[in-house]
Amino acid sequence: MTKKTLILAVETSCDETSVSVIENGQTILSNSVLSQIESHKRFGGVVPEVASRHHVENITLMFEDALSTAQVTMEDIDAVAVTQGPGLIGALLVGVNAAKALAYAHDKPLIPVHHIAGHIYANQLQSGMTFPLVALIVSGGHTELVYMRGHMDFEVIGETRDDAVGEAYDKVARTIGLPYPGGPQIDQLAAKGEDTYHFPRVWLESDSFDFSFSGLKSAVINKLHNLKQKGESPIPENVAASFQESVVEVLVGKAMRACQEYEVDQLIVAGGVASNKGLRAELDKAVQAHHITLSIPAPQLCTDNAAMIGAAAYYIYQKGITADLSLNGNSSMMLES
Ligand code: KG4
Ligand code: ZN
Repeated sequence: MTKKTLILAVETSCDETSVSVIENGQTILSNSVLSQIESHKRFGGVVPEVASRHHVENITLMFEDALSTAQVTMEDIDAVAVTQGPGLIGALLVGVNAAKALAYAHDKPLIPVHHIAGHIYANQLQSGMTFPLVALIVSGGHTELVYMRGHMDFEVIGETRDDAVGEAYDKVARTIGLPYPGGPQIDQLAAKGEDTYHFPRVWLESDSFDFSFSGLKSAVINKLHNLKQKGESPIPENVAASFQESVVEVLVGKAMRACQEYEVDQLIVAGGVASNKGLRAELDKAVQAHHITLSIPAPQLCTDNAAMIGAAAYYIYQKGITADLSLNGNSSMMLES
């Protein structure tokens, strides 16, 4: 029997402190996640300094929890992986330094992981990825279409020119008085409303796979101001549904065109917004019409977690890529490198 590879992974790029133990890049032995959302809610968004402090407080707790849940010790671990970037620099540094200390103390290889690669590889923890594929990344900081020919081979074919889709969700939610993070709240409201406001669909140039969401966000804000000036009240459910339909139509339209143009068999979706019910439903319909398979992680693997970092790390490790103890956090790390 071949030996199992166990990777201990650490994720602290934003507001979740997470440590996980992953077997052979595919099986989750543990995935301990401590979300800081409650702490940032009162500020209406993530406060970087507060995030770093919480990571420092919680990282040891998550490390102990991940090992005990997986019923392993550091001796059983083959390598330590960590999110190197992109993300909040102070937050990243907590994870990077914790991982370096563990790797040094236990004499284990250290594997640097790109946060978006992690989101993509959350799909490997479920039904698995089949190449070539197109990945639609929709998170709080990123909106990208990525073409992959094989493991760890990324070609960014489109990206947002302004706001990320999750950011647009959070900003629109704030304008209609919903708490942070607004994405899930808008999603719930949208299910009860209809597209009565007909906000624009921003397609950009016909051959472009890029996105733009800041105009849509402004269109929602302008509509609310106009209604207020006329003494009318907006219907929040319909504002949410109209905004969501505009977002979903463009995301699904561009993703399907990319799948056709790149002749792939699989579309995978990744990032916090991948748990959006409206998006999941429309993608389900679209892939059936185009005869391609769809992979979307379970909601708990869509938002930030270390299991996805461990899954990606396994394939980096297979390529023999490790880092030395001079590894630093990189807040603007590129996916294609
Ligand atoms: O991937 P993620 O956990 O963090 C980043 O790496 O950015 O994504 C967080 C984002 C937030 O903007 C949040 O509002 C959004 O994902 N989000 C959603 C939903 N659940 C989370 N957006 C729309 N619908 C949802 N159901
Ligand atoms: Zn993320």
